[in-house]
Amino acid sequence: MSKQTPIRRTTVPQIASRKGGVPIVSLTSYHAHTAAIVDKYADFILVGDSLGMVMHGMDSTIGVPLDLMIMHGKAVVKGTNKALIVVDMPFGTYEESPAIAFRNAAQIMKETGCGAVKLEGGARMAETITFLVERGIPVMAHIGLTPQSSHVMGGFKTQGREEESWAAHEADAKAVSEAGAFSVVLEGMVEPLAAKITKQIDIPTIGIGASSECDGQILVLEDMLGLNEWTPKFVKVYGDLGPAIERAVQQYADEVKDRSFPSEDEVYR
Ligand code: KIV
Repeated sequence: MSKQTPIRRTTVPQIASRKGGVPIVSLTSYHAHTAAIVDKYADFILVGDSLGMVMHGMDSTIGVPLDLMIMHGKAVVKGTNKALIVVDMPFGTYEESPAIAFRNAAQIMKETGCGAVKLEGGARMAETITFLVERGIPVMAHIGLTPQSSHVMGGFKTQGREEESWAAHEADAKAVSEAGAFSVVLEGMVEPLAAKITKQIDIPTIGIGASSECDGQILVLEDMLGLNEWTPKFVKVYGDLGPAIERAVQQYADEVKDRSFPSEDEVYR
C-alpha cells in the first residue's frame, strides 16, 4: 500500500455534473509555475495547443508536435494538485483514424498524468470520441471556430453570424455529446447560437468568445493577463503583465548599467 497522500483533483464526472449549475472556471496554462496559481481557482486547466503561438512564436497551432504537448502537460500536472488537467491533441495526431487517435491520446495520458484530452471537430470526430471514451480516455470536444482547421475556414472567424449556418453547429454539438464527450468548448460563436446549443445538449458548454450563456468559460491565460501585444476583442484583460514585466526588465537593465543592484553579500545572507 502506498504511503503517499493521494491527490484529489476535480474529476471528469464532477465537471460533467456542473451542467446548468455553478459556471465552470477554466484557463489555459503551459508551465508549472502559472499552473500552480491557476490551480487555486480553476475547475480545469487546459494545456492548449495555443502554446505553439503563445510560447513558441508559431503562426498557428498547426505545427505543434505531440512531444511539445507532452512536455508542457507534464509540467502543468507537476505544478498542480486540485484542478482536472486536460491536454490538447495537436493537429495530425487524431484525425486519421480512431486507432491512431487512441494511441496518441494514451501516450499523452500515460506520459503527462493528465485526466482528459481535448480534440477539435464535431460530427466528423464522433466515432473517434466514442472509441476513446469506451477505452478509458475522457474527451473534451471543441467546435465552432476550430483553429486547427483555420485554413479550411478561411481564418479565425466568428461562427454563426448567418442563421442558416446554425444547423451544422447544432448537429456538431449533438454529435459530440451523444458520442460521449464530457464537455465541449464552443469557440468564437455568436451568443444566440451558443445559448441555443447550451440548452440543447446534456453536457456542459465551455465558451471562449461565445458569451456568458455557456456553462463555463475558458480564456488563454496570457491574453487575460495582458502579456500579449494583441488579444482577441472578446477577451477582458484582467492584468497588465506585459507592461509590468517591461518595467521590471528596464529597471534591472538600468541598475546593472549603473552598478546599483544589490551586492553579493546583501543577497547571500
Ligand atoms: O489551445 C487552446 O488554448 C484552446 C482554447 C482556446 C480553448 O483550445
